[in-house]
Amino acid sequence: MCGIIGYIGKRPAFPILLSGLKRLEYRGYDSFGFFVLDKKTPFLFKKKGKISKAEKKLSDLKINGNIGIAHTRWGTTGLITDENAHPHFDCQKNIFLVHNGIIENYKELKEKLKKEGHKFTSQTDTEVLCHLIEKYFKGNLEEATRKALREVRGTYGIAVMSKKDPQKIVAARLSSPIILGINNNEFLIASDPAAIITHTRQIINLDDNEIAVLKPDNFFILKEKTPEAIEWTQAQVEKGGYSHFMLKEIMEEPETIENAIRGRIIVEEGAVKLGGLDDVKDKLKKIKRLIIIACGTSYYAAMIGRYMLEEYAGIPTEVDFGSEFRYRKSIFDKNTAAIFLSQSGETADTLAALRETKKKGILTLGITNIVGSGQARETDAGVYTMSGPEIAVASTKTFIGQLAILALFTIFFGRQRDMSLITGKRIIKELKRLPDLARDILKKEKIIKELAEKYCQFSNFIYLGRKYNYPIALEGALKLKEISYLHAEGYSGGEMKHGPLALANKKFPFFVISPLDSVYEKMISNIEEVKVRKAPILAIATIEDKKIKDITDDVVYIPKTLEMLTPILSVLPLHLFAYYMAVLKGYDVDKPRNLAKSVTVE
Ligand code: F6R
Repeated sequence: MCGIIGYIGKRPAFPILLSGLKRLEYRGYDSFGFFVLDKKTPFLFKKKGKISKAEKKLSDLKINGNIGIAHTRWGTTGLITDENAHPHFDCQKNIFLVHNGIIENYKELKEKLKKEGHKFTSQTDTEVLCHLIEKYFKGNLEEATRKALREVRGTYGIAVMSKKDPQKIVAARLSSPIILGINNNEFLIASDPAAIITHTRQIINLDDNEIAVLKPDNFFILKEKTPEAIEWTQAQVEKGGYSHFMLKEIMEEPETIENAIRGRIIVEEGAVKLGGLDDVKDKLKKIKRLIIIACGTSYYAAMIGRYMLEEYAGIPTEVDFGSEFRYRKSIFDKNTAAIFLSQSGETADTLAALRETKKKGILTLGITNIVGSGQARETDAGVYTMSGPEIAVASTKTFIGQLAILALFTIFFGRQRDMSLITGKRIIKELKRLPDLARDILKKEKIIKELAEKYCQFSNFIYLGRKYNYPIALEGALKLKEISYLHAEGYSGGEMKHGPLALANKKFPFFVISPLDSVYEKMISNIEEVKVRKAPILAIATIEDKKIKDITDDVVYIPKTLEMLTPILSVLPLHLFAYYMAVLKGYDVDKPRNLAKSVTVE
């Protein structure tokens, strides 16, 4: 959602905050702000809009001070204005605070504080925190923060400073990530490693309800914790010559498959080794039913996971949105396990669903990209996708990472049950080929760009697929909506005649995903039905398919692989197509309007 960075040390804080904030913009970007404390003149700056617009002016300012906090906002409560940008402050302009999350009881707190004489300058939920801390402040910032947080309901990752207790930053978290970065003689805090990776790779993940106090020469938190190393590199959080992070991340899709399977497959045994599941291996043998819970693109990966697990591991598998699951009455027995799938590991609905299942006492497994995320810490066992940082708001390479891990889960569960050695070996052999096959597809970048040029005159699209490629139709449509702001809908081919076919006409293109697989003939019938209604048709097809070009307008060919793995290849042209459509329309591809990278509020 929003991004936070803080610095305390010997160097000037402002340039560190500014560059960190720019790296965080992908999390939220309708406004931004800084507070830097200098002995003489504290500096407060809050502005609506993007940092790039104010950057020139800001770089020219001479801002002293070695302690500061900064924030990029993606507004939820209160309009997008300078006043609603963070940092927020109290009546006396003593407390300055940045916040990621949502204070659910802010209205009642605000009413109470107003009656006690506090004056508010913004419409945000965050500002109540400043006034609550002000109320309890007697000279010690962490004490006042601790007391204030006891009154709050909701979620928060916060960083707080005080002019009257000036040599410290206080940070706290509840369900919104906060990490501390430890460097020689300096400390950083951030909502996301991307903000501080230039300065240190030694981090501590703050746990829920913990409060950290950073001082110029030391820090403390309630519980002693040993630093763990971030494996991400500096190069991974930079564009590396690409015009957008999204394009870079699409181009990294082949290596994402390699990273997901590296060290995890045992070719000669047709088996996989998932260290993160070792502790629960025996319990998993008894599992009779799975439920996979996720949101957005991760949900589509979960749908594909269901097809894989049912077909190859023989386990009945259900899939649900975090936002639906958390409010429905779900019925489990002790032989059910829940798998949570989330790139960020911080999606509020997925985390809430995880907490619901834990209350029911069933086994919880996680698949996430972010080490130390809420999901990683709260599930009983889990596996990291190892996809590296994904900066563009729209998920691309991490979707591929999730699919590769779900294929490994399928082999894992399958080999615990009836999957034969031959089948295990066959899937592994294909998984190993995938990175090269994916590279071949990405070489068609120019062809896909030309298709985007041809089709960018249209404003509505339908994506059709069946079985393993039905979720790919949903993903292709989501990606187009998300970054090109075009109307696109994904459908299962079989559902077409139940309604969407009425839309087919020469101004309404159909994007069909129809590789040579078990539902190929059915897809061909769909294509023919669309063709007679004169709708333009683009197809994703297998290289060996000689007839599809005669019944479609344009084809992007992909190599043949096992049916269960086709989504990992068929989605690549769709990611590139959405990317080039957005570029042609001149949109901010990496930071689509109204969206943020992780949705940490409901
Ligand atoms: C779409 C996209 C979102 C996320 C969704 C879940 O491109 O990125 O739909 O997939 O918000 O996020 P995670 O996987 O972090 O739980």
